[in-house]
Amino acid sequence: MRVAVCPGSFDPVTNGHLDVFTRAANVADRVVVAVLVNRSKSSLFTVDERIDLLREVVAPLENVEVDCFHGLLVDYCREHGIGAIVKGLRAVSDFDYELQMAQMNYRLAGVETLFVSTNPLYSYLSSSLVKEVATHGGSVAGLVPDPVLERLRERVAAQASAKE
Ligand code: PNS
Repeated sequence: MRVAVCPGSFDPVTNGHLDVFTRAANVADRVVVAVLVNRSKSSLFTVDERIDLLREVVAPLENVEVDCFHGLLVDYCREHGIGAIVKGLRAVSDFDYELQMAQMNYRLAGVETLFVSTNPLYSYLSSSLVKEVATHGGSVAGLVPDPVLERLRERVAAQASAKE
C-alpha cells in the first residue's frame, strides 16, 4: 500500500491545500494530512481547531485522514510506514526551500518528495495572506472551504471585540 503524507501548518487550510490533498489521494492508496505542532509559531487557530476543520473538509475524500506530528517529519514517516511526502509548488519562489527540504528528507530517511503543480487558480494563495485579508475585513470567499470561511469570520469578529 502506498501511503503519502501532506504536511503543513494549515492555519487555516485553503482551497489550494485541498486541491493538493485531492490530487495526492488520486495517486496514493492512503493520504495522511499531518499538522505540524509548532509551539514557537503563533497561530490564528489551535492545532485542535485546525485538525477539526481539516477533518471536515477532507471528509468526502475516502482515503484521506488527518493527524498531527511533533519534531521531524521523517521520524513521523518512519513511525507510520509513509514513503512519500506530497507538496504543492505554487511558483518558483517556493522551489528553493522546497528543494532543500526534499533533499534533506531524502538524505535523512530516504523519504521521497513528490511535487504537484498548484492549480493556477490558487497559485498566489497562502494561509498567511488569507489571514491578513480576513483580519482586515477583505473577502476570502472562494479561496477557503466554506467551514473555514465561517470559522474565520467568527475568529476575526472575536478578535475585533476583544480589542474594543
Ligand atoms: O505549512 P508550512 O508551515 O509551510 O509547512 C512546513 C512543514 C511543516 C512542511 C515543514 O516545516 C516541516 O516538515 N517541519 C517539520 C520539521 C522537519 O522535519 N524539519 C526538517 C525539514 S527538512
